[in-house]
Formats: sequence, structure tokens, C-alpha cells
Amino acid sequence: MAYNWSVLLLTTALILLVLLVNCEESFVKPSYETDVACRFCRRHVSTCCGGAISNYFRSSQFESIFSNRNSLEVDTHEVGFWDYQSFITASADYQPYGFGTTYRKLLGMKELAAFLAHVATKTSCGSKVATKEPFTCGLCYNKEMNSSSYYCDEQYKSTYPCTTGVAYYGRGALPIYWNYNYGEAGSALKVDLLNHPEYIEQNATLAFKVAIWRWMTPVKKHQPSAHDVFIGHWKPTKNDTLAKRVPGFGTTMNVLYGDLVCGQDDNEFMNNIISHYLYYLDLMGVGQEEAGPHELLSCSQQVSFNPSSSSSLNG
Ligand SMILES: *[C@@H]1O[C@H](CO)[C@@H](O)[C@H](O)[C@H]1NC(C)=O
Ligand SMILES: *[C@@H]1O[C@H](CO)[C@@H](O)[C@H](O)[C@H]1NC(C)=O
Ligand SMILES: *[C@@H]1O[C@H](CO)[C@@H](O)[C@H](O)[C@H]1NC(C)=O
Repeated sequence: MAYNWSVLLLTTALILLVLLVNCEESFVKPSYETDVACRFCRRHVSTCCGGAISNYFRSSQFESIFSNRNSLEVDTHEVGFWDYQSFITASADYQPYGFGTTYRKLLGMKELAAFLAHVATKTSCGSKVATKEPFTCGLCYNKEMNSSSYYCDEQYKSTYPCTTGVAYYGRGALPIYWNYNYGEAGSALKVDLLNHPEYIEQNATLAFKVAIWRWMTPVKKHQPSAHDVFIGHWKPTKNDTLAKRVPGFGTTMNVLYGDLVCGQDDNEFMNNIISHYLYYLDLMGVGQEEAGPHELLSCSQQVSFNPSSSSSLNG
């Protein structure tokens, strides 16, 4: 009997040791079906494999990156709406799927810088604030200003019917547009966004969740998400290679904006997003030299996953 117990104890100790070492090495694996060690860890040992964005991204960094978001120089915008805690709360849902937590801490930090670069450029009031730090004007808005469009696509009237009188203009930290995107995000987040898109304007946690949902979810079936292309979880097909789409930051712009930004040679929109990314890598202490070569940062020669005539993307 005593012998059995000691064997059991020894085995358990060994398993725990292996798990701890593995987890330290792996942070959280990039796949939705994370390996057994990580699954075990997440369920039973919260400190192991529990890669958390708040471990490396502090409120002071959030404050520097978005230091002008409450600027009083700007007329109509959401002073006091966005805060660090809402972001951390929102990201917790997606961390187990690798958002900001994939592999080593370094890749997690880079992904966060990339995500925030998109957020900042889409919500910036940069042109209206006098500042020496041009990349710190994001999260100024939480909705598209002065929209005159309903963004209602009747093709989806059986799945995501538009609610009368409701407009599906851009809302959130990485704004979503169109009834079908509100419908899909709403199902994923279990919030009735189709009837109440305005919830996103009232709740910063939800506004961040919608953004992270967009980052983590493919725009269309059988396509990669921005997250997938960034962390290298996605394997380009022959067509992708012909279309010059490669894993990396450049292709996240292709996923999110298609030919509104990509395949247009060097352009101001694209370079602005890239500059934000590089600046945030520095601010987060990663250093922009970690961004890799310019070919991976750019999408200037890429063919769009979704041509804009199909109206699937923003705006
Ligand atoms: C948007 O509308 C507001 C209020 O009607 C107005 O003050 C502002 O100049 C408009 N902005 C743009 C970019 O048209
Ligand atoms: C804001 O949204 C989050 C996420 O959907 C939800 O958990 C929370 O209850 C909401 N807060 C309020 C005040 O409605
Ligand atoms: C690859 O591209 C060709 C030509 O554009 C197209 O006909 C084909 O369906 C594509 N294959 C896949 C798997 O997307």
C-alpha cells in the first residue's frame, strides 16, 4: 500500500514538473485546441499557462499610448469613455484563445501592439489635437462621426434582418459596420446588437470586446482572422502566395480593410497604421527592430482577400 502511494506521489510530482516547465516555455499555444498541458493548466493551475495581458501591459502604458483620448481640444467626442480596466476585462474572454498570449510573451506583446495600432488609427482624432506625439490620439471616438448611412444589407434579411430605424454605422474600438457584422458579433458575444447597436456606444468593455471579436474572427469562412495571420497560425495557400499574402502585420490590414488599404502601393493610410505599430512596439519596450522586414509590415503589393465591391468590409 505504502509503495503504491509513493509511486502515485512521484508520478504526480513528475507530471506537475513537466507541466510547469512546458507552460513556462509555451505561454499559451496558438491553436484553439491547445495542447493537453495547457488545457490542464488553465483549468487547474491558474498561474501556469495563464498568460494574461495584464502581466505585461500596464495601465501606465495604456495611458501613454492613448494619452490624448480625452483631449478637450476636440469638439464632439467621448471624453472619459475608454479606460484600461475595460480593455483588460474585455480581453480576458479571448486570452484563452491566444489573444495577446500566444507562445512567448514577446509574440503576445507584438500582437497587442499590432491590435492597438489598428484601434488607434480607426478611432484617432490626431488631426485635431496639437501634440508632439502623433501616435497617441487613438480612442478619441467610439463611433463613426456624422454617419448618414444605415449600412443595412438586405441580402441578409433572413439571418440578420435590420431593425427599423436603426443604423449599423461604425462603432467600437475597431469599428464594425453593417447589419451582418452586428448580427455575428452579437451572437458571439451574446448581446442583442442587431436590435441595440447603441449598446456599444454605452459600454467600453463591450466596445473593446467587439474589437477583439473582429480581430479574432475571420471576415469570411475559410479565411484567416487578423490574429491568425499575425501569429503565423495561418498557412498561405498557393493562391495566397500568388496574391503576395504572407503571415505578418501587413496581412492583418488586408484582412481588416482589403483593397481600401492594400494593393495600392505605398499610401498614407497604410503607412500611418504601420507607424503606429512601430511606435507602440517602442512604447511597450519591445523595440521596433522586432517588427521584422518592411515586406512583412506592408501590404502595398497584396491582392485583397475580399474585393471591396463585395461590400464586406468597413465603411
Ligand atoms: C459633424 O457634425 C457636427 C455636429 O453636427 C459638426 O460640428 C462637425 O463639424 C461635423 N464634422 C464633420 C467632419 O463633418
Ligand atoms: C457592459 O458589457 C459587458 C460585456 O458585454 C457586460 O458584461 C456588462 O454587464 C455591461 N455593463 C453594463 C453597465 O451594461
Ligand atoms: C485560386 O484562384 C483561382 C483564380 O483566381 C480561383 O479560380 C480558385 O478558385 C482559387 N482557389 C482557391 C482554393 O481559392
